[in-house]
Amino acid sequence: MGSKWLAARGVIAYIGPDFQEERRVQADIERKLAEATALQRRGDLAAAAAIYRQILKIERRLAPAHYNLALIQKEEGKALAAEKSFRAAIAADPAYKLAWRGLARFLCEKEKFREAVRAGLKLAALDDFAPPALQELADLLERMPVGDLGPAGDEAMLRCLNTDEVESDRFILTLLARINRQAGIRKMASGAEALGVLTGAFNEPVIAAAFSKLILPSAEIGEWIAAARSSILAGDAFPSFEVIALLALQLALGEYALEPPNGEPPVVTDLESALIAALYGRIEPEIADEILEKGEDLLEALPWCRLLLIRMGPQQLREWQLRGTLPCLSSSDDAVSKAVREQYEESPYPRWRGLRSGGETTLPALLKSLFPGTAFAALPDRPKVLIAGCGTGRHALRTARRITGSKVTAIDLSRTSLAYGARQAEALGIDNVSFAEADLVALPETFGRFDLIEACGVLHHMGDPEAAWQGLLDHLAPAGVMKVALYSEEARQDVAAVRDMVGEERMETLTLDDIRRLRSDILALPDDHPAKEVTKELDFYSLSGCRDLLFHRHEQRFDIPRIKAAIETLGLEFLGFEFTESRVKKAYRARHKDDPAGRNLANWAAVEAEHPALFRGMYQFWCRKQRP
Ligand SMILES: C[S@@+](CC[C@H](N)C(=O)[O-])C[C@H]1O[C@@H](n2cnc3c(N)ncnc32)[C@H](O)[C@@H]1O
Repeated sequence: MGSKWLAARGVIAYIGPDFQEERRVQADIERKLAEATALQRRGDLAAAAAIYRQILKIERRLAPAHYNLALIQKEEGKALAAEKSFRAAIAADPAYKLAWRGLARFLCEKEKFREAVRAGLKLAALDDFAPPALQELADLLERMPVGDLGPAGDEAMLRCLNTDEVESDRFILTLLARINRQAGIRKMASGAEALGVLTGAFNEPVIAAAFSKLILPSAEIGEWIAAARSSILAGDAFPSFEVIALLALQLALGEYALEPPNGEPPVVTDLESALIAALYGRIEPEIADEILEKGEDLLEALPWCRLLLIRMGPQQLREWQLRGTLPCLSSSDDAVSKAVREQYEESPYPRWRGLRSGGETTLPALLKSLFPGTAFAALPDRPKVLIAGCGTGRHALRTARRITGSKVTAIDLSRTSLAYGARQAEALGIDNVSFAEADLVALPETFGRFDLIEACGVLHHMGDPEAAWQGLLDHLAPAGVMKVALYSEEARQDVAAVRDMVGEERMETLTLDDIRRLRSDILALPDDHPAKEVTKELDFYSLSGCRDLLFHRHEQRFDIPRIKAAIETLGLEFLGFEFTESRVKKAYRARHKDDPAGRNLANWAAVEAEHPALFRGMYQFWCRKQRP
């Protein structure tokens, strides 16, 4: 705590008129604060709390002392006292972000969701609702999947949904709960009833925004949309253009995963026929573009119609344009590559919207935060990063934004996927990524060396993953690090059940219509069927997601012994797994005190045997070349 902080908050003036005395009291407070924080860091909470209380007797308005005391009280399970201390910190300094953040998280843990979201909004307001602040709000909302968040909840969700600088899909379950409260997610008796419920729900701005922006992972909502669509197409109902546009936006987000309606779409000549055609499937980009241009004035008052046309017209055209300009660094006639390329050309995955903001860091700082006890050789200030199998680019753009000074090369087999990423980079103004076509089985020798290589969700789609891994290591700088993510056999038992049901041999020949039908078959399975679990996955609700999740043309699944063998054969050092939830590593450390870094793969195999879903989000781990 610097003296500037105390002075700025009037502590010195408050203490007394005598300058010498002020200096002495101030120095004493600073010394005590430093002492208490050191004790707190070492875990001597009682001693630290005693000093904070002493300080607060001298100076009631010292926000950091209240805040640190709140953290201790929280740790000690003294909920009432902790909340009071957080609030006292805020009363002492209403612009104290740490205290607002602490209070919001604390209230969320205590399931006081309405108050938590209000605190989260105050925190974001202190940063003028800048994208990193909104991302933080989105992450907070994610932890509130139940309960009524009230008007503040709507405001918070809407602010996040209204920008592409936030990953709002994080709080999709919170949104579903909001829709459920409004509309009651249930089976509907008829298309007319479904349409009525949807029309009513769309009057809520947050629900309309959700339908326009995020894939809603709910089988019932899918049924409502299908029923409402039939009712409109049969001429039984005449909703407004905006309602039709919202239905079409949601259908398009799911890439028309629902089975198609009977009949043929109309020839598109104007906005009305475009909207009806969009209920069947995408419309020709040139035509969408033309209607957009012709109807500019009318569309001013029809924002959802306009958005639909933008997505189907100019955005699509720009992707096609970019697709043609991407360089090709390497290709091969590998049979698996060919089959996999065809799949992703037809079904680029994932079709994401919104990129997280905030959390920028340097590569060494990132490694230090992930693996605190590990020493790393010096890495350049402007690291070269390779994203191998970048797909539609979300991962590459996240890394480019997160690692300051990075220069990212993002490669993939599928030009259509790459073009999606390139368009998003352009829209988000991210210029430190270059996208290029390349086959990982045939990287040119001249490809260069990278300080960080990330191969997430790709090696398990290759004929010989270990050989491809070795191929990537040839391009890793000696001091470089690599992040890998691989499917877990144990965690994908439900997926394996689906694949067994369909037959591995059919995967390569499935058409998009086959996938739509299989999706319906899975939804009709009894709830206790082992394959039914897959309907809980977000990916199940879009066509490319469903294909990537369940019907991939080539998928291998790993277990920890196979990863261990690869690490040894490839001459690597395993640095550790990465989890989104810090409690996983905490629990591991508590159980394996002799392995605080969490590097013993045999231990992890035992943990996975007990918790089969632990690596549902893949085995995500870091490694580097063994040092000589
Ligand atoms: C499931 S997607 C993952 C995309 C991205 N890494 C992510 O996490 O969102 C797998 C991607 O790997 C790419 N891929 C598969 N085999 C490849 C190969 N041999 N060379 C380059 N890319 C490949 C596919 O084209 C596809 O886009």
